[in-house]
Formats: sequence, C-alpha cells, structure tokens
Amino acid sequence: MIPSGKARVAGVIGWPVAHSLSPRLHGFWLEQYRIDGCYIPLAVRPEALPDVLPRLPALGLRGANLTLPHKEASLGFCDHVDDSARRIGAVNTLVFEDSRIRGSNSDIFGFKENLVLGAPAFRVDAGPAVVLGAGGAARAVIAALQDLGVPEVRLVNRTLGRAEAIATQLGGAIRPLGWQQLGAVLADASLLVNTTSLGMTGQPPLDVDVTGLPDGAVVTDIVYTPLETPLLAAARARGLVTVDGLGMLLHQARPGFEAWFGVSPEVTPSLRDFVLAPPT
Ligand code: ATR
Repeated sequence: MIPSGKARVAGVIGWPVAHSLSPRLHGFWLEQYRIDGCYIPLAVRPEALPDVLPRLPALGLRGANLTLPHKEASLGFCDHVDDSARRIGAVNTLVFEDSRIRGSNSDIFGFKENLVLGAPAFRVDAGPAVVLGAGGAARAVIAALQDLGVPEVRLVNRTLGRAEAIATQLGGAIRPLGWQQLGAVLADASLLVNTTSLGMTGQPPLDVDVTGLPDGAVVTDIVYTPLETPLLAAARARGLVTVDGLGMLLHQARPGFEAWFGVSPEVTPSLRDFVLAPPT
C-alpha cells in the first residue's frame, strides 16, 4: 500500500545499513496487514548518532531499530531503558512517545520464541546448555535461557576473560570455560547454541564434534547465512533436533512492529521465504 500523509514511520539506524534485512521484513508485514506506514533504512555514521538520535522523535517517527554499531551507544540517549536492554547492555528497539525515547532489547524475546516454537518438545530446564561465544548475542541468548529456567550455562569462549565478564554481569549459574574444555562439557548437555560468527558464509568453520552430544540434545545457531550452517547440518545428520537462526531475527522484530504500527505480526513460512529471497 502506498503511504499517505498520515503514514506511521519507523526505520532502522545502522552504519552501514545497506545489508539490513529489517526494511524487507517490516515492509512485508506492512503489505500483509495493509497498514498505512513506512519502514526505512537510516544510514547514520557513529559520530553523527548524538546529533541524529535525539531529533528523531521531533521528526514524527514512531520509533526505530538499531543495528551495528549503535546498539550500545544508544543506551545513553534513552529517557527510559527497560530490563531487557539493561541486562544485555544494548538497545535494539526504540519507541518514541511524544519527545521521550524508550529503549528495549528484543533479542531475548527473539531467541526464546525461535527456540520454543522451533523445538516445541524441548524443555530448557531439562539439563545444562552449552553456549559458544561471549559477544553481545551471547548475552541475549543466556538471558533468554535463564528466563526459561536453564539449570546451568556452560559458556565456552576463545577469550576466557569475556566469558568470565558475562558470568559476573548476568549472574546465576554460568560456568565460563575456554575453547579447549568444550569436548568435556557436551556429554550431558541438553542444548548447544552457537553465538559466534564461525560457520557464517566467508568466516572460518566452527569445529565442534556433535557426536559428543547426547541423543535428545537440541542444536541451534544464531548464524543464518547459510540457513543450514555446517554445525546444524552435522547435528541433523547425527539425528538431533536443530533450529536455524533466521527465526531469531524475525521474532525479535515483532515487538517493535506492534509498538509502531499497532498490529502484532506473525512469523510465517512466506515471510521466511520473502526475507531470504534476493531483492528484485
Ligand atoms: P556479537 O556481539 O555479534 O556477538 P562479537 O562481540 O564480535 O559479536 O563476538 C563474536 C564472538 O565470536 C566472540 O565470542 C568471539 O570470540 P572472542 O571473544 O575470543 O573474540 C567469537 N569468535 C570470532 N571469531 C572466532 C574464531 N576465529 N575462533 C573462536 N571464536 C571466535
């Protein structure tokens, strides 16, 4: 639907922003629900953020998503930061109410929904989870697993100090481990999550022996290019339930869309196909 003068406007702020799938994703929903609205890419250099962000509510925008490299820096421009953003130390969704900026982080929600809907029979509280990587994505994944009642997170990272920092910041039962200890902590794990960039197209492969996991384990990857990463392919060949990473991206977009455009959107197979298809 072609926007009218009354169209609700939101967008994604990033630098670079050209790679972002968010305009396609929100654009699909705007069409599907026949909403008078627009969702636009906003290419904002890091040094311009302090000038640009506080002015967006005055432009009449409903809100925005934030992508690299703005997620941490934007915290400081919010008038209100919710618990999700505070736990992760990063914001990815802004809602403008009058001149106030409310920040939240929907990655926790996105990971939870993707896992719960992608592996419905899986019980997170059934056993320890092994999380690979200790960047921003790992924080969201661990916070989500804690919300779902995981008894222990074994946080395996190349740089042990980063894993230790997350364990201290998030609290709870998180055991920081070096990469060389990975083989020893898989045998009774109920879930393996990759949050590193390894296995992504153009990145080095992720070297994990999934034969060390128990039969009922679930394996998920936040990488979605390729959709079936070598880790997920190996897990599937081993007979394990796998959940790909695209769903986390799609589900994390739902709270923002609902806040800006007033409709709670659905993640459907057609949405997945559309987002994955190259733009024409
Ligand atoms: P994000 O915020 O998107 O999670 P990040 O902060 O750059 O990204 O974190 C990337 C993760 O991938 C880190 O855990 C990183 O390990 P280090 O903390 O040791 O840097 C991990 N990673 C990236 N390349 C890696 C490699 N070649 N081998 C092992 N881990 C790697």
